[in-house]
Amino acid sequence: MEYTVIIPAAGSGKRMNAGKNKQFIMLGDKPVIIHTLSVFEQDPHCNEIILVINEMEREYFKELLCSFKIQKVKQLIPGGAERQDSVYNGLMKVEGANSLVLVHDGARPFITIEKIQELVKKASETSAAILAVPVKDTIKKVNNGLVEETVERSSLWAVQTPQAFHVQLLRQAYEHAFQTNFLGTDEASLVERLHKPIAVVSGDYENIKLTTPEDIVYGESILNNQQK
Ligand code: C5P
Repeated sequence: MEYTVIIPAAGSGKRMNAGKNKQFIMLGDKPVIIHTLSVFEQDPHCNEIILVINEMEREYFKELLCSFKIQKVKQLIPGGAERQDSVYNGLMKVEGANSLVLVHDGARPFITIEKIQELVKKASETSAAILAVPVKDTIKKVNNGLVEETVERSSLWAVQTPQAFHVQLLRQAYEHAFQTNFLGTDEASLVERLHKPIAVVSGDYENIKLTTPEDIVYGESILNNQQK
């Protein structure tokens, strides 16, 4: 099934401490954002990429898209203060009431076409699906430096992007979130508040989000392994 993907890339990436948008950091021979975009560029089922950017970086994004021949980005949409605002701005530009829309963080360059296809297949059956991996560590709730409780690990999954939804469901979830002043860190948390089922598809542990400096070191080793 065909889909449109919204890629939020408008964050400032403060936790990366790179002095620039973390998506511009070079990983091998390409900036992070180009690794991410190239996967969707090469996926024949992806109709369009809606890239959400910081307006101040528009010219640089345009240069990158041109030099790396990314042709599926038809629109560069200005982002907002929070990730949720950025995705919403992109969502407003999705055409067609019956389409499937994916949301994928610009800072997750190791997504594969195989996982996208598994996710899209599931979402076309259920209207909502996300990628996630079982949590490996023991997780505890901590309050004021003291352990409150240990959370049962067998039901914990670390959630990734892409997340895939029927466009009308995602629009409804965003409208409800704004009406109720809810700010989530992913799309599924908004859809959950409509009490709709969301299917979980097993992701890859390597589909990391580059957030802090040590993620870049790990990212380089993932890239080296992929290129072997
Ligand atoms: O900050 P974090 O890594 O969680 O952000 C996830 C993605 O959302 C990043 O690709 C980032 O650029 C994007 N984002 C955005 N607009 C914001 C904040 C984050 O597009 N206001």
